[in-house]
Parts: sequence; C-alpha cells; structure tokens
Amino acid sequence: MSRSSAIEVMNMSKNFGDYTALDHVDFKILQNEFFTLLGPSGCGKTTLLRMIAAFETSSSGTLLLNGHEISQMPAHKRRVNTVFQNYALFPHMTLSQNIAFGLKNLGWDKARITARVGELLEMVHMEQFAARKPDQLSGGQRQRIALARALAAEPEVLLLDEPLSALDLKLRQAMRDELRRLQRETGITFVFVTHDQEEALDMSDRIAVMGKGRVQQIGTKITTTHQGVTGLGSATMSIRTEKIGVGDQAEGVILSGTVRARNYMGGFTHYTVQIGDQTLRLSRRNAHSHEDSLEIGGTVQVGFRETDARVLGQ
Ligand SMILES: Nc1ncnc2c1ncn2[C@@H]1O[C@H](COP(=O)(O)OP(=O)(O)OP(=O)(O)O)[C@@H](O)[C@H]1O
Ligand SMILES: [Mg+2]
Repeated sequence: MSRSSAIEVMNMSKNFGDYTALDHVDFKILQNEFFTLLGPSGCGKTTLLRMIAAFETSSSGTLLLNGHEISQMPAHKRRVNTVFQNYALFPHMTLSQNIAFGLKNLGWDKARITARVGELLEMVHMEQFAARKPDQLSGGQRQRIALARALAAEPEVLLLDEPLSALDLKLRQAMRDELRRLQRETGITFVFVTHDQEEALDMSDRIAVMGKGRVQQIGTKITTTHQGVTGLGSATMSIRTEKIGVGDQAEGVILSGTVRARNYMGGFTHYTVQIGDQTLRLSRRNAHSHEDSLEIGGTVQVGFRETDARVLGQ
C-alpha cells in the first residue's frame, strides 16, 4: 500500500548571491512519517526547513503540500509549524497564554481555546505548570511548551530544527522518546533536523542524508532476515568491521565475498574481502595455530548481527 506524500520538494535550489545553499533537492516526505534531515553544519538543513515554512523563498523548484502546490503560498496560510532550537516562547506570557496565542490569531472562540490548551498541557505532561512563565521552567520543560504551542492548531506538518540540541544529554534522550510518542499520538508528519546520526537513527522512520546543499541518500530502517539479505536491497549501512564474522564465524545476516588478501598474525588472520564493489578489511580469530583455511581468490561467507548494523540510506 502506498502512502501519499505530505511534502514533495521538487528540484529545489536556493542561492544566496553566488553561493548555492541548496542544489536541485528532490525528495518526498510521506504523511504521518517521522522524517529526519541529517547532515553537517552548513549543508542546508535550516534553509530547506525555512523554505517549507515559507520563511524563505526558493530560487527555483516546486513545493507541494498534500499534493497541492504551495510555492507561492505565504507562511500563515500553510498548515506548517516550526519548533526551533531556542524555544522562542513569549517571556511575558504564561504557558497557557503561549499555547493559546496562535489559536487566538486563528479566531478560535474562548471555550474552544481553553479546552485545546488543557488538552495540549496534558499531552506534554505540563498541566500543573499552566500559570507559570517560561523563565520559571527548565530547558526541557520549555521545549515541551514550544512543542505544545506548535501542535496547538494541528498543523499538517511540524518542522523541528535541532529542537534538542540545547538540552543536556540525559534530557535529550528523554525528549527523543517524548517526540516520538507525540508524533505517533498526533499522526502529524514530523520533519526533524539534526546533525547527530545516533539521534536520527533512534527516532526516524526515514532519514535523508544531506551534504553540501544536496540530498545524498534517503534511507529506511529496514528488517533483514537471518537467512540472507532479503529486503536489504541496495541499502547503505554502517557496521564496525570487528562485528563482522568471517567464514565459520559468520552468523546473522550472511553475505558472500571473495578473499583478496590474507595476513596471518598469530591469534588473528587479517583478510581483505571483496563484497560486490566494496572491499573490507576483516579479522578472524584463529582457534588453532596456523589455521588458514580461506584461500585467496576463494569464496567466503561473512556475517553480522542486524543489531550491530545501522542503515544509513538507500
Ligand atoms: N541569509 C543567508 N545569506 C547568505 N548565506 C546564507 C543565508 N542563510 C544561510 N546561508 C548559507 O547557506 C548555507 C546553509 O545554511 P543552513 O543554515 O541551511 O545550514 P544548516 O545545515 O542548517 O547548518 P547548521 O547545522 O549549522 O544549523 C550555509 O553555508 C550558510 O552560511
Ligand atoms: Mg541549521
């Protein structure tokens, strides 16, 4: 069953003067998906989000929201909301007023706003703090309120630009689970930006790896069978080579390779193994001295446990 797209970025470029911040970017984000843009500083993640939110115009390309072109639609008309790294709460307003702010602007009546604010405070577990001001909160609590405010009017898409980066490590971990839960509960499409690969892998349904203004690959976390690589397709993954077993020490997902070189080192033999067009240097523990059953040019099985591998893209 194919899901329809929440967002289609079609051949989009952005130049600042003669600097190309986005270079013909082309991808789709599905409805109800936790989608992450992952890439190093300066690769264009924020610029891309700002174009989806209409805070920035593109130099060329087309943007669709739920199948409708919105390239020319102003920010306030798009049902897209953003959570920033630095909370951006209104300091002079209580938390309830912060959450209510956008709803008032949309012309909601008072009773409906009160009910919705209550619902949101509950959703982010902040009911008891409704009357506080932002400066009476911890960083994590502020970010919960920023999330509640951004979700208040039920946007079709929520953009999150490194929303956890100002939090300490422990809180960041807790907020990952919180964000994932909120995404599942609301069914809203989340577009999450980070330069932290672990965070991306932990949270996302799919990840777009960005570099130098381009989307370099888009990946799904996928399941493999223990019999082989069914379903693996052309996925790109990362695994520490010491987690890869060679020959009779191969287990889990098994791949077939060719031995290109070997180097006996006593307790270990180092092998150079070619798998498709990849060449890996792997080590195999020697159970007996001078054990050396793998011939150069011969076929060898290598294997790894799924839980040791990380899929980066497809
Ligand atoms: N208004 C602007 N004028 C000129 N150059 C800009 C402007 N905004 C962004 N850039 C440049 O575009 C590139 C991409 O910036 P962007 O903010 O999208 O990066 P990013 O991937 O979000 O990085 P970070 O992880 O540091 O937030 C950078 O080289 C930046 O200097
Ligand atoms: Mg940025």
